[in-house]
Amino acid sequence: MRTKYKQWANDLLLERKDLLYENFDNFIYDDKKIILEIGSGKGEFLAKMAFRFPNYFFVGVEKNTTCAGITLKKIINNQLDNARLICDDINDVIASIKENSIEGIILNFSDPWPKKRHHKRRLTNENLILKYYEILKKDGFLNFKTDNRQLFDDSIKYFSRSPFKILKIDYDYKFDSSFDEITDYEMYYRDLNQPIYKIYLIKE
Ligand SMILES: C[S@@+](CC[C@H](N)C(=O)[O-])C[C@H]1O[C@@H](n2cnc3c(N)ncnc32)[C@H](O)[C@@H]1O
Repeated sequence: MRTKYKQWANDLLLERKDLLYENFDNFIYDDKKIILEIGSGKGEFLAKMAFRFPNYFFVGVEKNTTCAGITLKKIINNQLDNARLICDDINDVIASIKENSIEGIILNFSDPWPKKRHHKRRLTNENLILKYYEILKKDGFLNFKTDNRQLFDDSIKYFSRSPFKILKIDYDYKFDSSFDEITDYEMYYRDLNQPIYKIYLIKE
């Protein structure tokens, strides 16, 4: 499911810098209810959620420029004032986010990085989990869903060693639309009838 380089998407990123943040340094938090989607891919989830939930402010963090450009097109076409994007690696962005400022963090189908020497690149690695905890408000949530059982099981271990409270672990997530949308990767794995795993966490 590698995304082919698309020149138009990269051009759009340059043309519409007004819809992109470099990081959170100059971000005006006000009383926004911010949802951070990390590894937002082509923005299917981000755009649909922003459309359905105008009271929340969605920020996608996506390091792949073509994926980010495709997301930007969805933000523009749907005239979404409550969705913005950061085209960068979360590891270079997270220090700019204020502590206790984020309502929810979403990780959808993060890259599994199966080799042990690459585990530190996972978006659920223990260092990042601690930073996610810091930036979340009290009662803020983190939801993570994936098709990859090994990544899921390892991530449960990482989360168990963190200050997060695990609210629910679902080994056969059927889809609950109350605060969720089906992502591009999810559609692919659901069509193959593969189980989807989901964990819900909260900062108490
Ligand atoms: C497997 S794709 C899933 C995309 C989307 N969430 C979905 O469910 O369809 C993982 C995405 O995470 C992005 N990604 C991986 N590591 C990242 C990082 N450290 N910072 C920002 N984005 C990252 C990749 O570029 C890729 O687009």
